[in-house]
Amino acid sequence: MKKDQLIMGMETSCDETAVAIIKNGREIVANVVASQIESHKRFGGVVPEIASRHHVEQITIVLEEAMNQAGIQMTDLDAIAVTEGPGLVGALLIGVNAAKALAFANNLPLVPVHHIAGHIYANRLVTEMMFPLLSLVVSGGHTELVYMKEHGHFEVIGETRDDAAGEAYDKVARTLNMPYPGGPHIDRMAHEGSPTIDLPRAWLEEGSYDFSFSGLKSAVINTVHNAEQRGEIIEPKDLAASFQESVIDVLVTKTLRAAKEYKVHQVLLAGGVAANKGLRAALEKSFSELSDIELVIPPLALCTDNAAMIGAAGSILFEKGKRADLALNANPGLDIDIYN
Ligand code: KG4
Ligand code: ZN
Repeated sequence: MKKDQLIMGMETSCDETAVAIIKNGREIVANVVASQIESHKRFGGVVPEIASRHHVEQITIVLEEAMNQAGIQMTDLDAIAVTEGPGLVGALLIGVNAAKALAFANNLPLVPVHHIAGHIYANRLVTEMMFPLLSLVVSGGHTELVYMKEHGHFEVIGETRDDAAGEAYDKVARTLNMPYPGGPHIDRMAHEGSPTIDLPRAWLEEGSYDFSFSGLKSAVINTVHNAEQRGEIIEPKDLAASFQESVIDVLVTKTLRAAKEYKVHQVLLAGGVAANKGLRAALEKSFSELSDIELVIPPLALCTDNAAMIGAAGSILFEKGKRADLALNANPGLDIDIYN
């Protein structure tokens, strides 16, 4: 009988310190996430220096908890997978150095993982992947359509030219005096309001799968300022609903068009904005009409940053022979197609 494969995933690229243990690439044995959101809230965004300090304080605690949850020894592990980038360099370094120390001390292979590959592979903890597939990655730092013809192969067919979707959500939330991170607040308000305010949609050149959200974000800010100057009252709920409708319209239309053009079997949703109720519902509605394409949407806890997704991606990369030595460094601007 083949021995179970056990991979430890570590993630510290932004404001979550996370360690997980994944069995055979698909089963969560332990999954611990320490969020720092409370510490960053009063600054209205993630403060890199504070993030690094928290990671240093939390990493050994989170690691111990994950090992306790799993009830295993370090010697039971097959490899340590860690987010190498992209992200905040000081934050990434904590995870990379912890993983290197563990790999060295226990004589285990070290597998470097791209953060977005992790977000995509969160889906493999839900269901087996079927290729070719398309993943819509929407997070605080990324908005991309990624085509995969096989495991470990990532082709970016479209990406944002300015703000990421989550970034636009957070900035619009700030304009409406909502706390950081604003995405969930706008999402909730959008469901209470109606999309009565006309806002732009950046379709870009014909056939392009790229995105742009800065024009939409500016339009929201201008709408608020103009109303203030005229002494008019704009219902924040309606503005949130109008903004959300504009974002979702572009995301869903382009994903649907790309899925058909690339003749994929699956569409996977990934990243923190995948938690958006409006986006989930709109994708479900659009794809319910296409019986030959399966839509996969991970549960909320696997959409936002976690280490289970890093373990899941790490498992495939480990099988494909990807290794790092102890010279591994954090790479804040890492490209995803380096794996191809
Ligand atoms: O993937 P993630 O946890 O971190 C990054 O890698 O960026 O994504 C965080 C982003 C934030 O911008 C947050 O506002 C957004 O995801 N987000 C949402 C929702 N929940 C989180 N955006 C829209 N609607 C939501 N329900
Ligand atoms: Zn992320």
